[in-house]
Amino acid sequence: MKVGVAKEIKPDEYRVALTPAGAHELVSCGHEVLVERDAGSGSSFPDEAYAQVGARLVSVEEAWGESDLLLKVKEPIQPEYAFLRAGLTLFTYLHIAADAPLTRALVDSGVTAVAYETVETPDGALPLLAPMSEVAGRLAPQAGAYFLEKPFGGRGILLGGVPGVSPGRVVIIGGGIVGYNAAIIALGLGAQVTILERSIDRMRHLDEILSGRVNLLMSSSLQVAASVEEADLVIGAVLIAGALAPKLVSREMVSRMRRGAVVVDVAIDQGGCFETSHPTTHSDPVFVVEGVTHYCVANMPGGVPVSSTMALTNATLPFVEAIADRGLAAAAAADPALARGVNIVGGAVTHSAVADAHGLAYRSPGEALARA
Ligand SMILES: NC(=O)c1ccc[n+]([C@@H]2O[C@H](COP(=O)([O-])OP(=O)(O)OC[C@H]3O[C@@H](n4cnc5c(N)ncnc54)[C@H](O)[C@@H]3O)[C@@H](O)[C@H]2O)c1
Repeated sequence: MKVGVAKEIKPDEYRVALTPAGAHELVSCGHEVLVERDAGSGSSFPDEAYAQVGARLVSVEEAWGESDLLLKVKEPIQPEYAFLRAGLTLFTYLHIAADAPLTRALVDSGVTAVAYETVETPDGALPLLAPMSEVAGRLAPQAGAYFLEKPFGGRGILLGGVPGVSPGRVVIIGGGIVGYNAAIIALGLGAQVTILERSIDRMRHLDEILSGRVNLLMSSSLQVAASVEEADLVIGAVLIAGALAPKLVSREMVSRMRRGAVVVDVAIDQGGCFETSHPTTHSDPVFVVEGVTHYCVANMPGGVPVSSTMALTNATLPFVEAIADRGLAAAAAADPALARGVNIVGGAVTHSAVADAHGLAYRSPGEALARA
């Protein structure tokens, strides 16, 4: 198969969908790999690294125009819509349930589109979203620690403390993938860590894997209010699948926090769990409300593209190999997780949530792929 890699053109996006190591794997299996020139530079992979493993460096038109399977990180944006065509399979983050213009462009073009974020194992895990939650979770205490420093508007607290001086208090709301990863970094910094969770089973699991080193508390609104008031750093990491994040921390609760405390609202990509949050960018990451610094960057992994690219491609490569080796129809038939990722096939919507969101007819991926 001809596997293409397009350069990301969305502002502030430096990740790339395939590393030279991944390109090497595909070339070794007999596939042809076409990499758009300069595609890897934002993640510190120069063109030569791809050329050395046998990939062909091409123009943007060749990458999109000649490939059977095109790999990207972010959804196509308007200038890329003209490249969508029948006969092309696109594999990328799409998030089209909330994007009517892109859904229309995909359906009208006849392209086949597989979305990273809807690849879902039978037990409900999202293997191509999890690596970015890991990155964002590990970044959150790092960002919080930085903005707790006085010169950056913080209280002037060292999260780790020193002998004779108390450590800072970190409260994490939501103990899923983001919350767990935030906890291990906060613990590593030497902070005193509390996780507020709603699932007792999840708390039992966290208790086991964190060996009792964190305070695990049931997340009621009274407990959230009490914990937030005492905290130096609060990390918002809740998720209710398929819904906007619940606003668990009201403006009133924020107003009772310590001056110069920091909140990192990782859940901002789902609307945020603080009433006072709004999305920010890496170039202007924070704002202050009620004397509390808010860090609400909606694409946190974009700040560490080298690590994020590797984490993402580690997870995507097995699916890329399966599609390249067997073709999408056979690969999806053999793997229900991949089949859940198929959103659009030749003008048909093949993911029920996407069809529902836009009032379009749904067709099963198996049936649509068999006809394509
Ligand atoms: N900003 C970014 O760059 C970025 C990057 C990755 C993920 N995220 C977001 O981070 C959030 C968390 O993602 P995740 O992968 O950890 O999800 P997850 O499903 O693994 O974890 C969410 C956890 O929240 C818990 N929860 C739900 N309601 C709660 C409540 N009322 N109180 C306390 N806990 C509650 C759930 O029990 C679950 O354990 C999501 O909104 C995700 O989109 C943002």
